[in-house]
Amino acid sequence: MTQMFEMTVNGSIEQVEARASLPLIYVLRNELGLTGTRYGCGLEQCGCCMVLIDGDPAYACTRSMESIAGRAVLTVEGLGTAADLHPLQQAFLDEQAGQCGYCLSGILISAKALLDRKPNPTRAEITEALDGHLCRCGAHTRIIKAVGRAAALLRGEDPA
Ligand code: FES
Ligand code: FES
Repeated sequence: MTQMFEMTVNGSIEQVEARASLPLIYVLRNELGLTGTRYGCGLEQCGCCMVLIDGDPAYACTRSMESIAGRAVLTVEGLGTAADLHPLQQAFLDEQAGQCGYCLSGILISAKALLDRKPNPTRAEITEALDGHLCRCGAHTRIIKAVGRAAALLRGEDPA
């Protein structure tokens, strides 16, 4: 049995009909066309499905639609665009942090949550914030460096 749910996604109000127990990721990808949120394990083990819900990181692969009703969701599509990159996206490009890129949507989201509450994180704090993410390409070192670079950009400092 399905029902209507209303939520805000990347600043737009969306109404979708879905089963209450349906994980959010299926609505994002299949109903709203937001395929930047990736499916990996479905078990809260890899982090590639990470979105922000009311500003906090959450696994879209296990969050049910009934737990999302009335809340604000941010996906990687809400971060920036190709023509207007978010500083995190610019920093990941500058540091060539992506290889296959499959993990990066979720990592960018967790990094945004970190920088929103901690503008000048230490390397240890960045590592801890990304602890829930796997990168099968082993790009961790560049990813951590890119988050530090983004933090500097957001503070208005020269990251060089
Ligand atoms: S797909 Fe959600 S944590 Fe892996
Ligand atoms: S860049 Fe390939 S999984 Fe991370």
